[in-house]
Amino acid sequence: MHDDDIVCYCREVTVKTIRHAIHEGARTVEAITDITDAGLECGTCIEHLETLLED
Ligand code: FES
Repeated sequence: MHDDDIVCYCREVTVKTIRHAIHEGARTVEAITDITDAGLECGTCIEHLETLLED
């Protein structure tokens, strides 16, 4: 995935934003959601958030 790819379409959150949240200390999907709003709506991006956490 590229930095500018959108992970969460509902909230238009990019890979770059998610990686930044992880870099800042987010260690769970819930923590990423708190910081970025990704995953707050339909939830289909959750598995992508998990994948980015594992990277
Ligand atoms: S795509 Fe992330 S909540 Fe819908």
